[in-house]
Amino acid sequence: MIKIHSLSKYFHRGSVNEVLALSGIDLKVRAGDFITLVGSNGAGKSTLLNCIAGSYSVDGGRIRVDDVDVTGWPEHRRAALISRVFQDPLLGTCGSLSIEQNLALASRRGQSHGLGWGVRRSDRELFRERLSLLGLGLENRLRDQVGMLSGGQRQALTLLMATLVRPAVLLLDEHTAALDPKTALQVLELTEKLVGELQLTTLMVTHNMRQALQLGNRLVMMHAGRVILDVSGAEKKAMRVEDLLERFYSVRGEAFDSDRMLLV
Ligand SMILES: Nc1ncnc2c1ncn2[C@@H]1O[C@H](COP(=O)(O)OP(=O)(O)O)[C@@H](O)[C@H]1O
Ligand SMILES: [Mg+2]
Repeated sequence: MIKIHSLSKYFHRGSVNEVLALSGIDLKVRAGDFITLVGSNGAGKSTLLNCIAGSYSVDGGRIRVDDVDVTGWPEHRRAALISRVFQDPLLGTCGSLSIEQNLALASRRGQSHGLGWGVRRSDRELFRERLSLLGLGLENRLRDQVGMLSGGQRQALTLLMATLVRPAVLLLDEHTAALDPKTALQVLELTEKLVGELQLTTLMVTHNMRQALQLGNRLVMMHAGRVILDVSGAEKKAMRVEDLLERFYSVRGEAFDSDRMLLV
């Protein structure tokens, strides 16, 4: 569960380049919620995820994960609770280590010692079992270097690593956007499977409206650092891509109008 209260974040505060990237965000993510997060470029989606993960400090507001106030926690401490997968498949894995060494690292997430990538025999069985879920044959390639894998294989592995130790929160930031359509679909299906199986509390950023409607139980739209739509359950199920686009453009129109008013 995540409780975000009145969260604000500036970049270059006090300079001519000042940007208010998050403008008083209030969002309560219930345990087991799978939220798809959409919005225009620059809406603040990645900034929100970065603030939750602790990559960015905040300028106002509080963030709670499972009822613990983590607002002042550094990123590495939050990593015990929060897993992330980024757009770039190279970011989540270590290319010079083998598949099993990467998994061994992931299996020790959140532990203060034993930060090694040594692999025990008992680990290997578990890794094989988890890898076979991917349906990519990686369970027979435990000792292959991760740098040899394709982008899609690597992203599937990243997802498996992110969920190997069950995180309180899973953050996905356009994690299929850099993949070809077929591979993107496979990684999305895997996402749905893992999130469903482990009942993970998940925030997934996507620019694909169809995907945003198909996946998850709740959809949140952001614009200019604010939440402008938050639908779940039957209301979400009833929404079509056209409804989302209409919402999107109507808000953009407002922004345009107010800009124009400022200029007059
Ligand atoms: N590291 C940064 N330094 C300066 N400005 C940033 C930085 N990251 C994001 N921004 C700005 O904050 C706003 C929100 O960006 P971002 O969260 O990346 O949007 P989104 O992910 O929705 O496309 C944008 O105006 C962007 O230019
Ligand atoms: Mg982004």
